[in-house]
Amino acid sequence: MITLENKRTPLYDINPLILERNSFRAYDSKAIPDDVLCSLFEAARWSPSSRNEQPWNFIVARTQQDKEKFYPFISPFNLEWCKQAPVLALLFANTLSSDGRTNPAYDFDVGTAWGYLSLEATRKGLVTCPMGGFDKNLAQEILHIPDGYVPSLVISIGYHGNIDLLPDRLKAKETKPTQRKELNEFLYEGDFKKHLNI
Ligand SMILES: Cc1cc2nc3c(=O)[nH]c(=O)nc-3n(C[C@H](O)[C@H](O)[C@H](O)COP(=O)(O)O)c2cc1C
Repeated sequence: MITLENKRTPLYDINPLILERNSFRAYDSKAIPDDVLCSLFEAARWSPSSRNEQPWNFIVARTQQDKEKFYPFISPFNLEWCKQAPVLALLFANTLSSDGRTNPAYDFDVGTAWGYLSLEATRKGLVTCPMGGFDKNLAQEILHIPDGYVPSLVISIGYHGNIDLLPDRLKAKETKPTQRKELNEFLYEGDFKKHLNI
């Protein structure tokens, strides 16, 4: 269990996993058992999607050789810490529906799949960090992803590690969870003119 300095306090009662999930960047080298790792993708598997198209796909890198294939396309500001994670995964979307037309919801649906995966990881005592900071064209080329598919996110997965090994700019972040806007800043009633006041 990670001790955080400023705890997150929900305004209403919610599943504690939602607050426990943070983007963590310090990783232990300890391997993730196969069944635990697979349970994360199982969670993603059961996420909802438009017309049940299930546009998500993952490429998992858990050997040094496979992880090194990811390094050239990951931005330097992410690579400096994410190399320590025992698993990196690329989440990429099938942009086409089963009828061959563009699926307008593919991006939305892979986002939901990421959310489910990250909550299951938290439940299993793992930490994750989603990364949009990578070269999508290069990822597509290196990992042999054909046209019609779009890389969305690189995800680091592992057990939480020693914060002291992180670059200085990231150390404080690791123990201070991000906070959120107030509910009434994004909640409206009836139309966009009136905030919901409860
Ligand atoms: C689509 C997406 C892309 C992100 N890209 C990066 C990234 O490249 N590097 C990074 O360190 N964090 C990245 N993050 C993490 C966010 O900074 C983080 O989710 C946000 O600050 C909220 O903090 P929390 O995840 O700890 O609750 C990304 C998050 C999302 C959802």
